[in-house]
Amino acid sequence: MNIQGSIALVTGANRGLGLAYAKALLDAGARKVYAGARDPSTVTLPGVIPVKLDVTNPQDIAAAAALCTDVNLVINNAGITGASPLLDATEGDSTLRRLLETNLHGIHAMAVAFAPVLKANGGGALVNMLSALSWVSLDTTSAYSVSKAAAWALTNSLRNELRAQGTQVLAVHAGYIDTDMVSHVDAPKSSPADIASRTLEALASGAQEVLADETSRQVKAGFAATPSLYLGVA
Ligand SMILES: NC(=O)c1ccc[n+]([C@@H]2O[C@H](COP(=O)([O-])OP(=O)(O)OC[C@H]3O[C@@H](n4cnc5c(N)ncnc54)[C@H](OP(=O)(O)O)[C@@H]3O)[C@@H](O)[C@H]2O)c1
Repeated sequence: MNIQGSIALVTGANRGLGLAYAKALLDAGARKVYAGARDPSTVTLPGVIPVKLDVTNPQDIAAAAALCTDVNLVINNAGITGASPLLDATEGDSTLRRLLETNLHGIHAMAVAFAPVLKANGGGALVNMLSALSWVSLDTTSAYSVSKAAAWALTNSLRNELRAQGTQVLAVHAGYIDTDMVSHVDAPKSSPADIASRTLEALASGAQEVLADETSRQVKAGFAATPSLYLGVA
């Protein structure tokens, strides 16, 4: 995927990592960047085109696909977290459903709507923002980990389904990134700019997966450990 001259759509581009993706794309010479946001008035980055886009809203997605017909790069960045334990009798089910709605069904709905757009524009690329927590679960992130593990499996299946039309599908995994999402976490964090820059490098190299920080590399390596890391992290 050649970023220079590309036409990109980033979901959740008003703040956090999505904003860093939008900036990095402009810096790398993207011809046009559509900045998806639930509230387009919160998109303040000069040079992008704000698009009203709640990834849980089918009307928004259809309208975005009808508007952004020139896109050849879609970055599914929008995501949410939630802390209720899965076994919480009051909140467990609703938290899991809410997270799946955005983190799984949101990227699925975007892929369904934009696959024909990408095909019409030569194949292009689809980037799904996953996590090191696609591969391990922490006590405080169990529902989020379920949603990101499901999104990882979705990404692998979409890659297979999109291969024939020449669409590059890139999975991005990372540990903590310094955004509002983890402002309550006291731990080492990558900068959003670093993650965005590694993602664009991986895209340009034709990669299908990028382990964008040390945490994600260690977690993936933990699959081969005995016992495997995913069997339990305190
Ligand atoms: N931060 C981390 O440590 C970390 C690590 C690994 C992966 N990730 C993933 O990276 C992505 C970006 O997260 P972040 O750290 O930038 O989080 P963030 O600072 O909380 O920002 C989340 C972004 O997603 C948007 N969003 C949420 N629900 C949406 C929906 N239904 N439709 C459209 N946009 C929606 C938010 O929009 P509003 O402003 O309207 O709320 C905001 O722009 C997420 O997929 C997250 O799971 C984050």
